[in-house]
Amino acid sequence: MKRSIVRYGMVGGSLNSFIGRVHKNALNFEINAELSAGCFSSNSQNNLDTGSYYGLPSDRVYPDYREMAQRESLRNDKIDFVCIVTPNCSHYDIAKEFLLHDINVVCEKPLCSEISNAEELQKIARERGLLFAVTYAYSGYGMVKQAKQLIEEGAIGRIINVNAEYLQEWLIDSIGSSASQTAKLSGWRTDPKVSGISNCVGDIGTHIENTVAYMTGLKIKRVAAKLDYFNQPLDLNANILIDFDNGAGGVYSCSQVAVGYANGLTVRIFGTKGAIEWRQEQPNQLKVTLKGQPSAVYERGTGYITGRAAQLNRIPSGHPEGYYEAFANIYKTYLSAVLKTINGEKLLKEDMDFPKIEDGVEGVRFIHAVVKSAKNDSVWTAPDEIS
Ligand SMILES: NC(=O)c1ccc[n+]([C@@H]2O[C@H](COP(=O)([O-])OP(=O)(O)OC[C@H]3O[C@@H](n4cnc5c(N)ncnc54)[C@H](O)[C@@H]3O)[C@@H](O)[C@H]2O)c1
Repeated sequence: MKRSIVRYGMVGGSLNSFIGRVHKNALNFEINAELSAGCFSSNSQNNLDTGSYYGLPSDRVYPDYREMAQRESLRNDKIDFVCIVTPNCSHYDIAKEFLLHDINVVCEKPLCSEISNAEELQKIARERGLLFAVTYAYSGYGMVKQAKQLIEEGAIGRIINVNAEYLQEWLIDSIGSSASQTAKLSGWRTDPKVSGISNCVGDIGTHIENTVAYMTGLKIKRVAAKLDYFNQPLDLNANILIDFDNGAGGVYSCSQVAVGYANGLTVRIFGTKGAIEWRQEQPNQLKVTLKGQPSAVYERGTGYITGRAAQLNRIPSGHPEGYYEAFANIYKTYLSAVLKTINGEKLLKEDMDFPKIEDGVEGVRFIHAVVKSAKNDSVWTAPDEIS
């Protein structure tokens, strides 16, 4: 009989965590996803409390992810995919464990710390025919998809320059003398043992890289970077020059010490015929300017929005869609791909419109290239040439 429900498990995502709750809420938008198992925290009480909050039977709340992968893989009603929402350093081990038990994976970014590990995960997923998503959330926004479509249709001509930034202020106290009221995230991001070789670029610079790559289809040829550490173990601020494979240039700037900014991701793409600008804090709008004409603001949910942006529209224009819907759009697409695979149906191009393991590998290469360039006095460094 044809399956209509996808069962999933979570590793990480306890009630007091950030992004696990976002994933859970986003999956709640979809009627064909059912949380069936979890290992929500390495703290046992936290783990049990979260499992019970979600109404899971106690035998499907596992004390560690290895046991979860092994025991789930033996069940007739095993989970179809696992959602990994733990801090960066654990992604590789957890993802590998589930892949080796033939369970599809959705993993948070950055995919993992080392390029060789990222490539290994890609190889295992490919060899076993498993669906692997990396939740670069911004590619899930309807207006980012509209931007991608306009660029593909040639609306702004040949891309000649990209100017993008992701500015936050939440770590300003680490270089200041007095405590402020900025919102705080989990402290592990500034710890190299948990975060990896980069904090700012690994946490938010990687989002710029992925969002621009998704919108434009351009590949980065080389980067020249300057990172600022302010006497901290990992970077808090980065200015990065980019050369793309089509000859265009770009500037990416990311910061966690930019006072006045919370989640200021802005992407501006300049072409020979026009320009496109998208801002994540006003995600329902897209600014499009054609050469010699006044700027136009495209609104999500209107009649002139077409393609994937229209397919994924959820509510009428004027009612804002946001971060949850962006994750839900990634999941809607991924769930459809998983179901079609289970039911032996052919996957269409739009079924694969979610950030994949290849994007995750590109992200890890980008982070390493930026850090390497910065360590070598900002010398131009090619992400594809480092290992
Ligand atoms: N895509 C995005 O926009 C986005 C946004 C925020 C965070 N993230 C990524 O999500 C990941 C988690 O970030 P966060 O801010 O939610 O962190 P967090 O500290 O708020 O939550 C981490 C969770 O993982 C659990 N955990 C840690 N080790 C575990 C283990 N071995 N087994 C089971 N559970 C374990 C913790 O108990 C907690 O529930 C990071 O990789 C981060 O980069 C992505």
